[in-house]
Amino acid sequence: MTFKIAVLPGDGIGPEVTREAVRVLRAVSEGRFELQFEDLPIGGTAVKQFGSPLPERTVERCLASDAVLMGAVGGPEFDSLPPALKPETGLLGIRKALGGFANLRPAIAYDMLTENSPLRPEILKGADILFVRELLGGAYFGQPRGFANEGALRTGFNTMIYSVSEVERVAHVAFKVARDRRKKVTSVDKANVLEVSQLWREVVIEVAKQYPDVKLEHQLVDSCAMRLVTAPGSFDVVLAENLFGDILSDEAAALTGSLGMLPSATVGGKVNLFEPIHGSAPDIAGKGIANPLGAIATAAMLLRYSLHREQEARAIEQAILQVLGAGYRTADLKHGSNERLAGTEEMGRLVLEAISTGSTIPARA
Ligand code: IPM
Ligand code: MN
Repeated sequence: MTFKIAVLPGDGIGPEVTREAVRVLRAVSEGRFELQFEDLPIGGTAVKQFGSPLPERTVERCLASDAVLMGAVGGPEFDSLPPALKPETGLLGIRKALGGFANLRPAIAYDMLTENSPLRPEILKGADILFVRELLGGAYFGQPRGFANEGALRTGFNTMIYSVSEVERVAHVAFKVARDRRKKVTSVDKANVLEVSQLWREVVIEVAKQYPDVKLEHQLVDSCAMRLVTAPGSFDVVLAENLFGDILSDEAAALTGSLGMLPSATVGGKVNLFEPIHGSAPDIAGKGIANPLGAIATAAMLLRYSLHREQEARAIEQAILQVLGAGYRTADLKHGSNERLAGTEEMGRLVLEAISTGSTIPARA
């Protein structure tokens, strides 16, 4: 069996962390199934080389692949580019072209990393949240958008809009994944103010009727932000529209103490897209100190959701825990006298070693 993986390293630390993720994918696939990798340009790097943050060929090749693995895009040198040339425009463009509308972002508080969290351990304990962020609608893509000038009055505007079917399809994903977890969905909205949220809530209530075994609760986005830091352990699946999900998932990533460690998977479209949650971190790019564990965990999600290789996905996730358990930390994580500081490549190599010595993958047939 052969799978084609389109690799979009992008900008900043994207290339260095993606390299480690690809190494890990090669290792777990060896002798089991074949992976063909193809590197493609996106973001600021693509602007420099091809004059576009998303060259057409990148889109074509991604659409012809079995899964897309992304690094990160963006950086200060590209901030002053016009909107059409911004690296982020390339990212939104590939999301739209691939069509995945449900972005799964797990945020898990690992005991080993509690000292990295700004929260007290007793508050953080047990937090294990899966965000289902709607990724193709809301203010990110809504029309009309733009700037306007009326006399002396200059305005900027966006439209937060959802159709019934857009809410339905992402709500189904949330309820389905909740079934495999603790069977609870918290739907986030701002229904006390926004019509778009009132529609969101109505539709989620309708969809919930098909999942009587899953408990549904609604929470306003502001109080959800508060509850995330006061009782993060009280959530299971959090379903949110695009912008709310963007904001809340960063908050959750920070409170688990491991922004550099969190993966994401975007499903539901023609080809699934996998990207770590962390950005391009231009300040540390090229120094060999970036944490590759977010990218490596993203590779695990790719195996799980696109290649249906649960066993190999788990092997990677356990290897990550093993390496952390052995006391290795990248510079973004606290490292006391009991921990050893490791660079990007070393961390990748340690994960590889943990996989090959781990008992999680049975001997090859
Ligand atoms: C994310 C990022 C992106 C987003 C940016 C880079 C466009 O913040 O994936 O969360 O807002 O979706
Ligand atoms: Mn974000």
